[in-house]
Amino acid sequence: MPQHNITEAVQQLAKRSEQGVCAYIYDLPSLSQHASMMVDALPPNCQLFYAAKANPKAEVLQSLAPIVDGFEAASGGELSWLKEQLPEQDLIFGGPGKLDSEIELAIHYGIELLHVESLYEIRRVQSIAERLGSKVNILLRMNIPIGNIGTTKLAMGGKATPFGIDSAQLPDALSLLKNCPNIILKGFHFHLMSHQLCRHKHLRLMSLYFATFKRWQAEYALTVEQLNVGGGIGINYQNPAEVFEWRAFCDELETLITLNKMQNTQIRFECGRFVSAGCGYYCMEVIDIKQNHGEYFVVAKGGTHHFRTPAAQNHDHPFEVIKRRTPLLDVPTLKNKKATLVGQLCTPKDILAKSQLLTDIAVGDYLLFGQAGAYAWNISHQNFLMHSKPDMVFLRQR
Ligand SMILES: Cc1ncc(COP(=O)(O)O)c(C=O)c1O
Repeated sequence: MPQHNITEAVQQLAKRSEQGVCAYIYDLPSLSQHASMMVDALPPNCQLFYAAKANPKAEVLQSLAPIVDGFEAASGGELSWLKEQLPEQDLIFGGPGKLDSEIELAIHYGIELLHVESLYEIRRVQSIAERLGSKVNILLRMNIPIGNIGTTKLAMGGKATPFGIDSAQLPDALSLLKNCPNIILKGFHFHLMSHQLCRHKHLRLMSLYFATFKRWQAEYALTVEQLNVGGGIGINYQNPAEVFEWRAFCDELETLITLNKMQNTQIRFECGRFVSAGCGYYCMEVIDIKQNHGEYFVVAKGGTHHFRTPAAQNHDHPFEVIKRRTPLLDVPTLKNKKATLVGQLCTPKDILAKSQLLTDIAVGDYLLFGQAGAYAWNISHQNFLMHSKPDMVFLRQR
């Protein structure tokens, strides 16, 4: 059963939605509680930044602002939005294909660190900073081999990708930087994979980052003291009860930091999905239930144009059925049958979960999809078919 406050929010929405319920519901107290747990568990020399790309809703950012150490932007648009919403917060800016105008904006905003992605980008940052008469603090985002550490279903590095600088080019990058008086190299950035579900594997990745950082410090006599270890902690959508063991991960990370003598390095996480996924729910009212060529379909208000996560991840999204308080009379129902849950789009790809066993569902009931607070609304093709937008509900109290 979903938490009482979410069920109640759905029933409240039902009372005022004449055309049927279709809404995102964000549980802000649970977001704050989860983010606080994450920050509190971190070893002393570690920080948590929030990767705004996961969910840049103003209410989400405002809830996180008093808790996290800062925010990561991955475009000029995100950067401006973050500056507008959170003028006092520390901002960092990364991502491939930065425009000159975006680099200029970042310098103008006085961001804390720029994550540089290529040799050519180093040259562009230098010439823009020189023109503006500014100094820019940077991290070099590096793509390193990962050996037999094992990857996840979404790799941004450890192999050929558009992200970061190949570690073989580090000597070139460092000699280029010698001729860049407006750039100050503060350290390195790694974000090699997302969707990490296993704390042991993630610790092995951290161990590789630490060893690489130490080796480069020694080999190139660098005085750098910042290491950004990216985000990438995943959500187990198939079994949401199986949660990445963040506290245990942090305890073991502290030991790893001591072993690698990294206590004087500032280690920064920039997590998105693991921070905000759990606070969001997408709710759809059932419009129709039908049988077609021997299979059942539950058609509900909304779809992947609002909630692309299942289509993007190619998974069956976890959900609950919330019964309507006053059942509708003489409507299609389904008991103890498997059905595919779909939205209103005229594409067979508009599927939220395939072949799911439904013990009791009727037209007028609600499908509630959890883990919808990250890479959900903001990654969806919202204008397709010009359907109306979902309601946005922000719960502020338990
Ligand atoms: C550079 C960088 N940092 C952080 C993140 C956030 O990753 P996640 O949401 O998996 O924590 C991403 C995601 O794409 C990324 O590309």
